[in-house]
Amino acid sequence: MIGVAVLGSTGSVGESTLDVLARHPDRFRLVAIAANSNARRLAQQVLAWRPAYAALADERAARELRELLGGAAPGTRVLTGPVALEEIAQLAEVECVMAAIVGAAGLRSTLAAARAGKRLLLANKEALVMAGPLLISAVRHSGATLLPIDSEHNAIFQCLPPGMIPGTAPRGLKRVLLTASGGPFRDTPDEALAAVTPEAALAHPNWVMGRKISVDSATLMNKGLELIEACLLFGLTPAQVQILVHPQSIVHSLVEYADGSVLAQLSAPDMRTPIAHALAWPERISSGVEFLDLLKTGRLEFRAPDTGKFRCLALAQAAARAGGLHPVVLNAANEVAVQAFLERRLNFPGIATVIEAAHESRLVRAVVRDRRGSAGHGARVRPLLGRTPLGLQGTALLGRLRPTAPQACRGPGPDRVRRGGHPARRLREAAR
Ligand SMILES: NC(=O)c1ccc[n+]([C@@H]2O[C@H](COP(=O)([O-])OP(=O)(O)OC[C@H]3O[C@@H](n4cnc5c(N)ncnc54)[C@H](OP(=O)(O)O)[C@@H]3O)[C@@H](O)[C@H]2O)c1
Repeated sequence: MIGVAVLGSTGSVGESTLDVLARHPDRFRLVAIAANSNARRLAQQVLAWRPAYAALADERAARELRELLGGAAPGTRVLTGPVALEEIAQLAEVECVMAAIVGAAGLRSTLAAARAGKRLLLANKEALVMAGPLLISAVRHSGATLLPIDSEHNAIFQCLPPGMIPGTAPRGLKRVLLTASGGPFRDTPDEALAAVTPEAALAHPNWVMGRKISVDSATLMNKGLELIEACLLFGLTPAQVQILVHPQSIVHSLVEYADGSVLAQLSAPDMRTPIAHALAWPERISSGVEFLDLLKTGRLEFRAPDTGKFRCLALAQAAARAGGLHPVVLNAANEVAVQAFLERRLNFPGIATVIEAAHESRLVRAVVRDRRGSAGHGARVRPLLGRTPLGLQGTALLGRLRPTAPQACRGPGPDRVRRGGHPARRLREAAR
């Protein structure tokens, strides 16, 4: 029996993971589950699964969980605080960790699992974007097995030759083609974007996902984060990653080789396929996902993304090229801006504007100007992993930006703080 911990068990990926585990009770044992503050859902999961550990990062919610459980689950130890999540990720009885916490909050527990040499199922792409070199080197040193859960990266992984080393491109690989659905605003005119609501942004045409990644898909920032993720996971340069809008979300990504071969992975848009793949790899197990009927699908279309309309993608591409701490800034500013958009404090185009403004802030310029070799990346990121989570650093950053930018981006209306110049050029300027 393989012991599994699911970090982020109350979320979309977490629930899908429990669904796959439930189909294979002879193979997997759920040892631990963890989330942030959703005590009610976690209590239901405890009662259904009887894991040895259940943790909530939020202490008040953990007290509520204890009250909800009463004496009904004596075999489950309830833990609390962010440190508890790191402890769970390192438990001796856990072989396999699903890292499915959203955003910067998942970084420490993901790193803990990597350092402890676990089979790490990585859904928390933000951890890689913020601390890629640190995470990859932790995986290499500990002998952990890193398996991507993002459907695109899982597809690429499936199309690579066996024996892939994290962070190293296999010989003969020319490019990867990363597909994107284009999100709910794929065909919305640019000038209508200032009036779109959070509800419309959350209504993804093909995937059912958490709130933050749904907004990231609508801005195409998700594809930008995935570009950075692909470079780190597979040892690629940004120029080796081509982004293709593929509205059907059937081809999850493709790998092009030197001999002209292009390998692709296809499946229905359902996260249970990559989750089942990573849980059982190198074997295959059933996932509960419907099989493809290509005759019914009929057409598979591909087109180039519009980076003029989706500025977040252009900003992420520029951050990928600039490297160093640029992806950290991009991610922190994006998390803060997405939250502000969901709370209706910022309009949709304002998300890109806040990220642009973040790169231009003096605070950020001072940090990213400190350019040292890539070996120094860990040393520079480590202080950021101190007491203050990166999301909070982003909040501080947003506070600094407020006098200059976001007041102009509130609510529907034109994106008044949009400034001249291509984002890539402005990002390069900010890096000087
Ligand atoms: N959903 C997808 O289809 C999909 C696909 C590919 C990659 N991903 C990636 O997978 C990750 C999870 O996405 P999701 O869509 O599953 O998100 P989600 O539905 O919003 O769930 C997020 C999970 O993280 C937990 N969490 C949030 N803040 C936390 C904190 N401070 N400490 C501990 N736990 C915390 C939440 O707990 P509470 O419920 O208690 O708040 C919840 O369990 C993201 O990085 C996303 O980019 C998702």
